[in-house]
Parts: sequence; C-alpha cells; structure tokens
Amino acid sequence: MITIHLQPHDPRQAAHTLQAQPDQSLMQAAVDANLPGIQADCGGLLTCATCHVVVHEDWEKQLPPMGSDEDGMLAFTAQTRAPGSRLSCQITLTAELDGLQVTLPASQY
Ligand code: FES
Repeated sequence: MITIHLQPHDPRQAAHTLQAQPDQSLMQAAVDANLPGIQADCGGLLTCATCHVVVHEDWEKQLPPMGSDEDGMLAFTAQTRAPGSRLSCQITLTAELDGLQVTLPASQY
C-alpha cells in the first residue's frame, strides 16, 4: 500500500491520509476514499481539470514529467496554476511515491 497525504487548501484543517494501491491514479484513490476536494468529472479522461492538486515541492521531482495534454489542461483549473500543479488523474502511484504530499485547491470549479 502507498500512503498519500492530502492537505486541504485551508492550512488550519488537518490533512487527509489515505492508503492506495500501486498503479492506481491518485485521482482514483481519492475518489474511492470519498475524499472531498477532488471532483474528477471526466473520470480521468483528461478533459475536465477538476482533479487539480498542488504537489509539495519535496515531491515534485519524484513524479514523471507531465505530458503536453496535461500541461495544456492545467490552463483550465479553477485555482490558478502553481509551480507544483498537476492533474491527479495523471499521477500513477508507485512505491516511490509512498508518503506523497499534495495540497488541494480551494475549489475545483
Ligand atoms: S479527472 Fe478530469 S482531468 Fe483529471
């Protein structure tokens, strides 16, 4: 299992911690756990940008580089793109990402 920490946008709120299966997307793990804050309206088809997360700077380099489609879709997030912005449906969880920390945007719409 891979442990993921998702910090709500409001830093006064406690982080959500979830256990995910390898090879699952971060989006799917969050949806399966009924985690608030990730809508994933398109179900991972890379057409909605409602699965936006901001990856903690300590983890940014651990992730594979984003593809051009993800890069383009990040122009459509509700919260302005940040340096660590990624679409969680494009993050495949691996053992190397055990302990991954991301922050959820204030809103996905
Ligand atoms: S779930 Fe729609 S772009 Fe990620």
